[in-house]
Formats: sequence, structure tokens, C-alpha cells
Amino acid sequence: MRYSIKKLIQTSLGLALYSLITHTASGADPLKLDVNLTPIAKIQPTMYGIFFEDINFAADGGLYAELVKNRSFEFEQPLMGWSQPATDPYSTNDDSGIANTLNFAENTTNKNVLRVNVFNDKNYSLVNEGFRGMGIHKGETYRLSFYAANPEGTIKRVVAQLVDAKGKVIASTAIPTTHKDWHKYSQTLVANTTEEKASLKITFDGKGTLDMDMISLFPKNTWKERENGLRKDLVQLLADLKPGFLRFPGGCIIEGRTLAQRYQWKNTLGQLDNRPTMISRWNTEFKHKLTPDYFQSFGLGFYEYFQLAEDLGAEPIPVLNCGIACQFNSGELVPVSELDPYIQDAIDLIEFANGTTQSPWGKVRADMGHPEPFNMKYIGIGNEQWGPQYIERFKVFQKVLKEKHPEIILISGSGPFADGQMFDYAHRELKKLNAEIIDEHYYKDIAWFKNNATRYDNYDRNGPKIFAGEYAAQSVAVVSPENKNSWETALAEAAFITGLERNADVVQLTSYAPLMAHTDAWQWSPNMIWFNNLQVLATANYQVQKLFSTHKGSELVSITHAGKPLTGQNGLYASAATDQPENALLIKLVNTDADARHIQFTVPAPVKKSIATITYLGAKHLLSENSFASPDQIKPEIHRQGFKNNTLTYTAQPHSVSVISIPLNH
Ligand code: AHR
Repeated sequence: MRYSIKKLIQTSLGLALYSLITHTASGADPLKLDVNLTPIAKIQPTMYGIFFEDINFAADGGLYAELVKNRSFEFEQPLMGWSQPATDPYSTNDDSGIANTLNFAENTTNKNVLRVNVFNDKNYSLVNEGFRGMGIHKGETYRLSFYAANPEGTIKRVVAQLVDAKGKVIASTAIPTTHKDWHKYSQTLVANTTEEKASLKITFDGKGTLDMDMISLFPKNTWKERENGLRKDLVQLLADLKPGFLRFPGGCIIEGRTLAQRYQWKNTLGQLDNRPTMISRWNTEFKHKLTPDYFQSFGLGFYEYFQLAEDLGAEPIPVLNCGIACQFNSGELVPVSELDPYIQDAIDLIEFANGTTQSPWGKVRADMGHPEPFNMKYIGIGNEQWGPQYIERFKVFQKVLKEKHPEIILISGSGPFADGQMFDYAHRELKKLNAEIIDEHYYKDIAWFKNNATRYDNYDRNGPKIFAGEYAAQSVAVVSPENKNSWETALAEAAFITGLERNADVVQLTSYAPLMAHTDAWQWSPNMIWFNNLQVLATANYQVQKLFSTHKGSELVSITHAGKPLTGQNGLYASAATDQPENALLIKLVNTDADARHIQFTVPAPVKKSIATITYLGAKHLLSENSFASPDQIKPEIHRQGFKNNTLTYTAQPHSVSVISIPLNH
């Protein structure tokens, strides 16, 4: 009987029936909730957004659709990612040819080129392994390009092939190398097979020397079919969140382990071959997850981030280094008196994003293809810095930027911890400075999220606004590679989010972190999205984010029981909003308890139809997770429930999240 009921609830109709059965069968009196439609606060369009950090191969090897790793031979080991395998059993590659890198332009951003010497006609070849393989889709077109110089004119052509993990050719093309001087060659290949772990093999026809650089391979089918584009499936998942903002490019990535390794946005603009490759700070950060081949090509740079934010209809929120390297690493400091270049970077960024095409940085933007301003409204000053060192530096940034650009909202940080001395100090000092928005980070356990739905209930309404900039429930411990994206973590986050939403007058921006991770090249878990070279996976946590983001409403209203908000009593959490444009009431109900909870409320306004649409998220077990093998275990189900006399009785299933949407007529 139990089993068949469980089966039933997997269908929409079943769910409605089940709520009826359990409600009547248990006979329990429903909990009476009071909904009041008087608006309490505006829910900001930025309430739910995206925090993008280049961690876990999220940029190169992830969102950035380039398939060749180390395309310009600028990694610390210049041939990393490339191999020169033997081509037949009787000859080694050493017999047939050799490739080395030449450091031909020291002190430039693109100093290395590849010199290929082919000795005989035994099919000397070079292979690029991609980012843990290359994801190739059957029938799709791939754009290959490279620069080459053929000074002796003796290399007639190169043959480019995509090969599967067993070495079988799945796409092939030949490109005559006709120019003695440096020349850019481009060609397309069409794949006849889908392969997750393909590689690019280049074979040379002729004998002699060929110099090469910027060997690049992109799918044609990128997001909006842009060259130098982004992976379409990943961007689509982001677009489906309907995010209010895009914060970029991190995270600790902006801090660098040392100041020399900080993120410098100016290095990420312009022609691709002029963007200097840099080691990723996540490269060897965690002993338990070494990724020595993690570098930043900056092919996905600030222009591309702004463009992505625009595509997503999200406010762009760049975060800049404030003169402090990561305090978990070197903690290197720029003396306060020497902050000018760092502040100038912020001023120039405002010009790059918003300036006219006549201004120097506005012209750079226009030359890259976007004469219209990006209308940037926010800048983050520092990421997760702490102590007097941060406050002293923030003060200087604030003074100059507020004088020159009062229109830009500055986001300050409160450090890496959700509470404690460091956190309290930051809040105290930032409040004195009239900081506008404080970024808070919570990487905490599941219980913390359930216990902290009241976190902002008594927050000073005259203080800075809050950006819950990075949060995720950790099923084991922060930085543990064993952390899972279980339903239990997502459910706890949902409970917490009702508390963020109930305090929407204070909490104006929120984002889960980190955003995404490559299954074969990650450093940090959990993540909202996982991907491999062919597929993307929306986790349970993604589904919770999407549910709240796509039902955020526009005005916060109150929902209470016995005069109190629902903040975990009997495992129940709730928030409510009206959506003015849609003229609807949205009730978000989270039941973290193992028992079903029956609730009842009366809509205090005429309704358009006595039918509620319920978007429901639940799972078989608290430990359930979506996986590539079973990606839809946890995904929203929609069903409708009729009601009478404006009064709805609803059963919140054990361990579930529901959004009840009711069309109003007022
Ligand atoms: O999200 C991963 C890291 O966690 C971020 O880079 C940093 O801001 C935080 O410590």
C-alpha cells in the first residue's frame, strides 16, 4: 500500500489525490496560516542571481567553449596538453619529427610559438588532449584555426583530425599551408560520431619547418553562435534561472595567492593572442585535488562576462582586487598610500562599462563590438578580505569612487565567515562608513541553514543592505571533497531562503556558490551545476534556486501562524509575495520534517480562478542526488488544486518545497 501511494505521488494527479487522502485519513487539523496582502517591501529584481567563479574548470574547459588546452603554448610547461605520439610500430615520432616551443618574444603577452620540424614522410603528428578530452557531438561543425609561418614553403599542408579515445578518426580536414609569413588559417570539421574524450591530431605533409601558434578549436554551435563563444548547454541552464545579476569573475580568483597572481581585468580584453595566460590560483590549492593543468587563457574575459550578463538580462557585478592577496595564502598587502593603480582600475572599469565611445576605455569596448554602454551599476571592492587591512583599503576606494562616481553602488565584504569576531568587526566598521551593501558568505552545515532562517529578522533596518553572495550547505565539511549535492542540502537551503526572502527589505542580492564544476577537473564541492565534456547536470540545489528565482514575485507580503512567521516550527518555513505584473499570490512552503504538514489559508482578496498552480520539489530520500545516469530524480512537478471560498487546504509532503501560485483579481 505504502509503495503504491509513493508511486502515485510521482504523477501530478497522484500528488493532488495523495494530499487529499493523507489530509482526510490523518484527520489532523490543518495549521491555519494568515496571509496579509499589504506590501511589506519590494523584492529587488536582483534578489536571485549568479556567482560565477573560475574554479573547477568553470571558464577554460567549461563555460568557455575552446576545446584546445594550452592553445598558445604559454603554460609554465609550454607543451603541457600536447603530445607527440609514435605514429607507427616501426618509427617513433623522434624519427619522424619533433616539436619544441621557441621563446620568440620575451616580455610580450604571447611569447611562445611552436616550432615543428618534420624529418621524413612517416606521418609525424601532434596531439592535443583537450580539457580532460574534448566533447564532440555527431553531426556538429567545429571551427579549427591556427597561425602558421612556413618559411621554407616545404610543409605542403597540415591534416587536422578529431580522434576518439581509441584513436579512430571521427572528423578530418586538410589545410594547405600556403604562406611563408605568419598567416591565420581557418577550416571547419564535421564529426561523424559523438565522443566525450576526443583529441585533436595534427599531421604534417612535407619535410621541413613549420611555426605555429594559437591552435584553436571551437564548436560552431556556441551560445548565440558566437565565435570565441560559450558552451550553449551551460549558458542555457544559467538563462533558465532568470538571474537578476551575474557576479564575476570570483571569488578568491580575484585575490590571487600573491598580488602578482591577482585577476587584472585589463589583461582580459582585446585580441585573444594578446591576453596573457596565467596560472589559476586553484591549480594546486588543495592537496586532495591537484589540477596542475589549470591555467587561465582569459578567452572568457571581462568583455565576454559583460556580454553574458546582458544576454541573461542580469545586472553585471564585477569584483575587483582591493590591494590584498588572498589572506588564506600570502595575504600580501599594497600599502594604503600606494593604492592608486588599483583604484584607477576601478575608475577605468566604470569607463569601460559605461563610458562614451569617445572615452579611451569606452572606445576599447566599442572596438570589441559593443558601442552601447553595459550600464553597470555595482562594483565589488575585494572579495573575502578581513580585518583592519580590509577596512583601511575599502575606505580609500570608497572615498575616491563615491566622489567620482556616486552613481555606482559599492559592495563591500565581511570576510569568509558567517559570524564571529572578524565578521562583527567588519559589520561594525562598514556600518560606520555607511557602506551600501555587505557581501556575506556562508559555507555551513545543513543544521545551520535550517536554524538560520531568522538570521535577518532583527537586523538593523537602517544599516547596509545584504548581499548573500556565496552560500551552500556542506553535507560533510567546508572544502571536503566528500560534500554532496543531496536533496537534504537543497532542502535546508530552501528553508534558509524563505528567511532571506522574508527580509527582502534588507537582503537584496543572493547567490549559491560555487556555480559549476567539471566532473573530471574540480577542486571544490558541492556545486550548483556539474558538467562533463558532453552533458550538463542540474543538481537539486539548482532546482531550488530556480524555483525561488522564477517565483520571486515583486512585493513581499506576510504569511504567519499565530502572529509569527514560519521559521521552522514543526519543520515548516514559509514566505509569500505578490507578483504585481502577473497579479498573482506566491506562497513558498518548505517542510523539512519527516511527516506531512497540512496547512490552510484564506486569500484575503478576490481571486481570478479558484485554482492554485503548485510547483513541487521533493525526492525519494534525503540523500537522493541528481546524476548523469538519473538527471531528473529531483525536478519540479507542476499540478493544480482547486479550492473554495478563497480558502485553500494543502498538504506539504515530508521533506518538500512547494510554491503555491494563485491568480488574483484585484
Ligand atoms: O566558492 C569558492 C570560494 O569560497 C570562493 O572563491 C571564495 O570567495 C570562498 O572562500
